[in-house]
Amino acid sequence: MGESLTRKIIKSHFESGSMTPGEDVFVKVDQTLTHDINAVMTYLAFEQIGLKRARTEISVSNLDHNLLYIDFKTPDDHIYLRTAAEKYGVYVSRPGNGICHMIHTCRFAAPGKLLMGGDSHTPSSGAVGCLSIGVGGMDVATAMTGLPMRLTMPKVVKVNLTGHLRPGVNAKEVVLEMLRRVTIKGGLGKVFEYVGPGVETLEVPERLTIANMGAEMGATTSIFPADNVVKKFMEAQDRGDEFVEMGPDADAGYDEVMELDLSSLEPLIALPHQPDNVVPISSLKEHPVVHQVFMGSCTNGSYSDFAKAALVMQGHHVDENVQCTAGIASKQIYKQLMKDGYLDMLIDAGVRIMELSCGPCCAIGQVPPTNGIAVRTSNRNFRGRAGSPNANIYLVSPESAAATAIKGTFASAWDVMGEDVKKLAEVHEPDHYFVDDSMLIKPLPEEEAEKVEVVKGPNIASLPVPEKPEKKLECRISLKGRDNISTDDITPAGAEFSSMRSNIPLMSKYCYHRYDPEFSERARNLGKSIIIGGENYGQGSSREHAAINPMYLGVKCVIAKSIARIHKGNLINHGIVPMLFENNEDYDKLELLDELEIDNFPEQIKSRKVTVRDKTKGLSFNCKLEISDAEMETILDGGQLRHLKQQLVDRGIIKE
Ligand code: F3S
Repeated sequence: MGESLTRKIIKSHFESGSMTPGEDVFVKVDQTLTHDINAVMTYLAFEQIGLKRARTEISVSNLDHNLLYIDFKTPDDHIYLRTAAEKYGVYVSRPGNGICHMIHTCRFAAPGKLLMGGDSHTPSSGAVGCLSIGVGGMDVATAMTGLPMRLTMPKVVKVNLTGHLRPGVNAKEVVLEMLRRVTIKGGLGKVFEYVGPGVETLEVPERLTIANMGAEMGATTSIFPADNVVKKFMEAQDRGDEFVEMGPDADAGYDEVMELDLSSLEPLIALPHQPDNVVPISSLKEHPVVHQVFMGSCTNGSYSDFAKAALVMQGHHVDENVQCTAGIASKQIYKQLMKDGYLDMLIDAGVRIMELSCGPCCAIGQVPPTNGIAVRTSNRNFRGRAGSPNANIYLVSPESAAATAIKGTFASAWDVMGEDVKKLAEVHEPDHYFVDDSMLIKPLPEEEAEKVEVVKGPNIASLPVPEKPEKKLECRISLKGRDNISTDDITPAGAEFSSMRSNIPLMSKYCYHRYDPEFSERARNLGKSIIIGGENYGQGSSREHAAINPMYLGVKCVIAKSIARIHKGNLINHGIVPMLFENNEDYDKLELLDELEIDNFPEQIKSRKVTVRDKTKGLSFNCKLEISDAEMETILDGGQLRHLKQQLVDRGIIKE
């Protein structure tokens, strides 16, 4: 039996371990990426490790998320990140170049490469046959050392695409339909590998949209073959020489198979507050006033996305109740839209063109009004994601977003264009893009890099380092959370909070700020504590601050019904022990401030079974640890930084 593309790439990067699904496999990483609101911690960690230079083929530091300099903190962070990148041999994508995933897919990712990025939507680059995995910032620092990286060997799901998308139906519908079927937890431990005759009908940015939102299913990643469509795309980017044809063997074996007929799809919408809450737009019975429409983001910020939205809007104007904004994903796309007249069409229709950055997607501007309804083409609609605790966010395609902005309520392109919707089928990606890398700063030669002085503003505090698990843990419950606590709940998004991410003592004051405003003070006063969570604890963004802040406040363990993949890794990296209830009914018995006790904690961790005594309730319950041997070593060493330094010393790469 032949092999899937996923297994071929893992095999070609294999260092040690096992390629049996669920087991640890250690792989060589070719490329890394980071972005400004998570990366300060990555580079502080890299600095503490003590290596002079990144040991990857390509590492890129993107300054793209927070370009709203509301005070000195973010510009200070950007100067730190630029100078640290110069010091360590890393590319910088400057503010204004575009959003990290579009930049990486267009300018750096290549077939057969293995990319790890400090952002959950790193899988976007799977669009060009690059195995691209979202991880925490500490993991990126680890990958930059050149040491083999641990992966849980995924199952590979074949998604056989047939048919073709009808005009007015976007690649967004493909991934919304996947989410509807698979749910937000259904991708855990899996790679979705898209194959079949429908694949060749999808251009690279459409593939990017689908791969991007595989993150919302909890998948390890998603990937497409490097076929003729990718070849044409890379040639159009003047990167044809980096193209290598790659795909699964004709008789490849897969762990699971799904069928999806592209022709059967119709415009879909994800209702608040989860991206898998998907229904056809045509099935909506109520048509309330929509207050905001946001088009763009890394998910749907491509040339074709905006060209199609412009055609839907041509000859119309944005409804007077709607604020409609556009976040184009790169300077390259912006210039092409300008040249081809689509930018004019959008502006004439009343669309406000934003900075080339993430912006509204992570609540950096364009927060919806009180109880507002926001329709977005981005990828997440968790409560609070847009910066308002009571807004309702709906996710749609750019065509439907444009139609909604015109109609002032939920609508699809079909509702605005009628038969003219066929015009949308004529939009294609350019044969040649504007290639201008002047907003990329290339790595300096080693001798020059050594002389660079890394500049740290007053907001940049040092990275806190956790302790090893203590022998007997006695502490109280500092928070009992519901199901689906997101990393946005733990560390709020938004311009104000994002600018604090380099300063954990400051940011920790706002930990769980919107979910439980008293948490921070309570945890601090308790000194040590345990968090109780429901299902899918830590879903959403990869931001490791959702682990670092609780660690800084003394949280020693999270006990939950289930824990999202990237967040579990972040907890381990930052010395918080992730434990799961053996019996989920025990969750109901526990209350805030219950006093818990764990004897022989390190020994129990080694057995992957931990008995917890609730002294307040007079009961005991069992927890399990679903962790690999390598993860256990990291926990017992007191987190990844201590563990990694020891490994580098053992290999003679750095001195003790
Ligand atoms: Fe940025 Fe939103 Fe994508 S924050 S990287 S546009 S998910």
